[in-house]
Amino acid sequence: MEHLQGHWLLARIGKRVLRPGGKKLTGRMLAKTELEGKDVVEFAPGLGRTTQLILERKPKSYRGVDRDPQVVDIITKLTAENAPSIPTSCALHDAADTGLESESADAVIGEAMLTMQTERGKRAIIAEAYRLLRAGGTYSIHELGLQPDDLPEPVKDEVRKALARSIKVNARPLTEKEWRELLESEGFEVLWSGKEPMALLDMRRNLADEGLGGVLRILRNMLGNKDIRARVMNMKSTFHKYSKELNGIAFVVRKPAK
Ligand SMILES: C[S@@+](CC[C@H](N)C(=O)[O-])C[C@H]1O[C@@H](n2cnc3c(N)ncnc32)[C@H](O)[C@@H]1O
Repeated sequence: MEHLQGHWLLARIGKRVLRPGGKKLTGRMLAKTELEGKDVVEFAPGLGRTTQLILERKPKSYRGVDRDPQVVDIITKLTAENAPSIPTSCALHDAADTGLESESADAVIGEAMLTMQTERGKRAIIAEAYRLLRAGGTYSIHELGLQPDDLPEPVKDEVRKALARSIKVNARPLTEKEWRELLESEGFEVLWSGKEPMALLDMRRNLADEGLGGVLRILRNMLGNKDIRARVMNMKSTFHKYSKELNGIAFVVRKPAK
């Protein structure tokens, strides 16, 4: 329990929405992403909350890619049940090397999965999204951001270290300018970007994201286990301490049309 990555710890106690800007930022991002009739690839679908939203938008096909076998099982089942009439799959692969065919997708979506990669890892995954997309196709991301753009380097370091200690993941959030430059340097054009507060563990956000029943389930699971409670309270206090510097940030970018 002590070393479990924060998102899996939260998933274990019943949290389903595991991205920093919550359902609201996902909704804003998907509103800017064309999905109906499109070939869609989702990187790191996790527990499948966004997968369901994608399927509701009637894509032509859905392919998920996650490096966790449990996620692959969850998504394979979920897609077969929710969208029996369209081709769906979920493969056990790293998003940097999906094994999928080049230029076979119109939209790639990936949330809360780039922040935890090194700079090289981030670049490899962004380059893979680019390779998978047809010209004019879009890549939508929702990640952890730092603000403002001119946040001093020592503060960035302090935030990264505090996150690593608390969530047990080497999270490397970037400022809006850094995310933008990274995406542009891999060949993408930015179509849209949006932000929401980083409020993963705030009560109001959880009521919005998980519903009252979900919040009660999470509280019950937390109260029943001292170690889990200590970990969650530690994460909450780290997020609170750096709430001014952290945000949820999303981008929709496009592979230039030929
Ligand atoms: C914080 S969860 C986010 C899940 C989901 N996208 C969401 O927003 O609720 C991180 C997910 O990313 C997956 N993941 C992390 N790095 C990955 C990589 N390099 N390739 C594929 N999946 C990855 C993990 O297995 C996990 O399912």
